[in-house]
Formats: sequence, C-alpha cells, structure tokens
Amino acid sequence: MNQPLPSDPQQTAQNPIGVFDSGLGGLRVLDRLMQTLPDERFVYLGDTLHMPYGEKTQSQVTEYLSACLRWLFERHQVKMMVVACNTAASVAPQLFGLYPGVPFVDPVTPICRWLATAGQYRTVGVMATPATVASNRYQFLLDDLNAPILLSQVGCDNLASLIEEGKGDTPACHALLRQYLRPLQDRGAEAIVLGCTHYPYVMDQVAALSPGADVLDPAVFMALEAKRLLAEYQLVSPQVTGRSMAEVDYFVTAEPDRFYETSRRMPFQALAMKQPTVVSIPALSLPS
Ligand code: DGL
Repeated sequence: MNQPLPSDPQQTAQNPIGVFDSGLGGLRVLDRLMQTLPDERFVYLGDTLHMPYGEKTQSQVTEYLSACLRWLFERHQVKMMVVACNTAASVAPQLFGLYPGVPFVDPVTPICRWLATAGQYRTVGVMATPATVASNRYQFLLDDLNAPILLSQVGCDNLASLIEEGKGDTPACHALLRQYLRPLQDRGAEAIVLGCTHYPYVMDQVAALSPGADVLDPAVFMALEAKRLLAEYQLVSPQVTGRSMAEVDYFVTAEPDRFYETSRRMPFQALAMKQPTVVSIPALSLPS
C-alpha cells in the first residue's frame, strides 16, 4: 500500500488534488477550487461515517483525519491536500507536515493572513464548531501574525449536522443562527467568518441577520492559496486538450445516496455533482 509519490515534478503535476471534509460542506470549497483551477483533477473525500467532527474529541478527529489523509495519498497519489474541514485542520494541524513535498491548504491560515494584512477589521467574529472553538486555532494564528484584532468565537452545536441533512433553510436552522450570531453582534463584530465548511450554505441567512457586518467565506482565500502553492511547488497541471472543465471523483465513507441527493440540490458554480463511491477506510492506531 505504501506507494511513494513520484519525485519527478512533471509527473506529479498530472496527479489530482485531494479535497477532504467530514461531509458535504467541503463541496463549496471544491466548487471554488474548480473555478480558480479549471485545468486540475480532484479527488473529494467526505468522511460521512464520522461526521460531525465538530462534536468529537481531539483524539477521535486526529485518528479519522490521519486515516483519510493516508487513503488519499496512497490510493490517489494526490499532489496537494486541501483539508477543507475547519475542525480537522484546527484540531490536528500537526498532521500537515507528514507528507514531504506535498503542500497542504487549510481553511484557517489563509483567511487569518488576509485579516492580518488587509487590516480592514478591528473586531471579528468566528462561527465554528465547538471543537474548532475549543482548539483556539483562529486566535493562535492571529496572535502569531500580530494582528490587532479583537476576536469573538461562538461554538455552534448542531448547526453543521442540520445543514448536512439538507435542513439549512428551515425555521429550526434560522433560530439557531439567530442564537449563535447574537454574542458576536453584542461584541460589535465588523466581520463574521464562516469557520465551518457547512455554514456558507446559509451565508445569505447569516448576512440577512447581520446587517452592517461583512460575512466572509474562507473558501475564497483557500482557492487563492492553492493556486499560489501549486505554482511555488511547480505542480500546476499541464493543460489537457479536450478537457472542458475540472474533473472530480467523489468518495464518502457512508450514506452515498443521502450525500448525493442533498448535495445535488446545492447551488454550485462549476461543480456538477456525480454519485459518490463508498469506501471503507481502516482506522489508524496512533501513538498515545
Ligand atoms: N466540516 C466541519 C468543519 O468545517 C463541520 C462539520 C462537522 O462537524 O463534521 O468544521
């Protein structure tokens, strides 16, 4: 199983980009990547068997993410890894250095860098899963960048699951959004970061409930970071004649029909949803 990545950049450049999420939230990130990088091939993996990650322990998330990353690298020889899931990226960033020569893109670093350099906001609110908030990853990175930003974070129990079930546009979801946005508004957030892959599906509702605040989707910054890193690592795909748009293979670890039915109703720009294949990914035992 342990196939090393090819060391020849020309050869590696033809390999796909791996996009990982706990569920269907990462499809928004994939859609953005496809618009920015239309000549690339992608492999999407949603760990729907273990979703929601945001309500799991740190060691569970680390174990699931390790196994999924290994599967993407060994089965598909991905040349770049996009960990779309905020929870996984926040709880287990130590896994990003494990594959030499393979650049990683996470949701938190690019937007924090932008917030720090653009200097547009003094008060920023982050909506995220309880596990992402507990990791304090956004605060850690902003501090590391010396960003003079007052950050407020709210852990949104149950919100990602509701959206994963296709219930983003229901009174129950609306009520949760109102409840979770209130503390951010009370602290005067000038911008609200959708710090979970699922929340951009309810971006319009968040914007309507947050007059005067800008609502930011990390996917925008991730796509630009992916483009920059592909060039830096000389991994830009050679253009293939006849390929009209980016190609994707979809995989999930459970419930392929529900995943397909829910996601094909989502409004995407570049992505044309196909039925995903179910894969069984063996757990890895990690050193304690
Ligand atoms: N994909 C996760 C994230 O971005 C949210 C869903 C989950 O809890 O698994 O944080």
